[in-house]
Amino acid sequence: MRLQGKSALITGSARGIGRAFAEAYVREGATVAIADINLDAAQKTAAEIGDHAYAVKLDVTNQASIDAAVKAVEDRTGGLDILINNAALFDLAPIVEISRASYEKLFSVNVAGTLFMLQAAARSMIARGKGGRIINMASQAGRRGEPLVAVYCATKAAVISLTQSAGLDLIKHRINVNGIAPGVVDSDMWDEVDALFARYENRPKGEKKRLVGEGVPYGRMGKPQDLAGMAVFLASDEAEYIVAQTYNVDGGQWMS
Ligand SMILES: NC(=O)c1ccc[n+]([C@@H]2O[C@H](COP(=O)([O-])OP(=O)(O)OC[C@H]3O[C@@H](n4cnc5c(N)ncnc54)[C@H](O)[C@@H]3O)[C@@H](O)[C@H]2O)c1
Repeated sequence: MRLQGKSALITGSARGIGRAFAEAYVREGATVAIADINLDAAQKTAAEIGDHAYAVKLDVTNQASIDAAVKAVEDRTGGLDILINNAALFDLAPIVEISRASYEKLFSVNVAGTLFMLQAAARSMIARGKGGRIINMASQAGRRGEPLVAVYCATKAAVISLTQSAGLDLIKHRINVNGIAPGVVDSDMWDEVDALFARYENRPKGEKKRLVGEGVPYGRMGKPQDLAGMAVFLASDEAEYIVAQTYNVDGGQWMS
């Protein structure tokens, strides 16, 4: 087991990719806080995963909620070893239709939420003096813009940049900050994405999802479980010398 005895907090892990990470971490011996804005869903997920998962209410846009979630992990497990910044929102609109509300909501969750969760986790890890691991969820959307996806793409480019700066700043405390950039992953989020593309590109529901899956060099969309190996590796002892990187796990979609 590669994460035996480790304490992890995964934001937005009530469902989707975050949930797959939590399941993989528990299999590798970690105890995981299923930290999500949807507490009911987080409790259900934690109960389904078993004794080594527990639910924590967390809104990454609220500083008091961030501090309380980190404290809950410290109280329950004695200290935080691993944070995955996974919670994020998606939206889609042509440039001339982007609303300020959508911009502020996405930057608040995807960028400020990542930064201030990372900060609270780093403060806790530094005070404990045992180092730690922080993994930020970026996206292929952070590697280049897309005509209808300007705001989400910009938030994920910001996550890649924050990963670099935080990685360089925190490694002196033996806190490794790295990122994962998925391509297209079949999750509830992508069902919402498909519905938005159906509206803006005038397509039948499900068509965009089918087309993007066919376009992946591997031959299909990713599954949340396809990303779990990288999330385990980056949190394991084997990744000790990896600093400030963002890895593509995307079936060959992007090369960098
Ligand atoms: N699905 C994809 O194709 C894809 C591709 C690239 C990157 N990603 C990234 O992977 C991560 C997970 O994606 P997913 O598809 O599993 O998403 P999802 O929408 O299925 O799950 C997101 C979770 O975050 C929670 N959440 C939302 N706002 C929150 C807040 N303010 N505080 C705490 N929790 C909050 C939601 O309740 C939900 O459980 C995201 O960062 C996403 O941008 C996804």
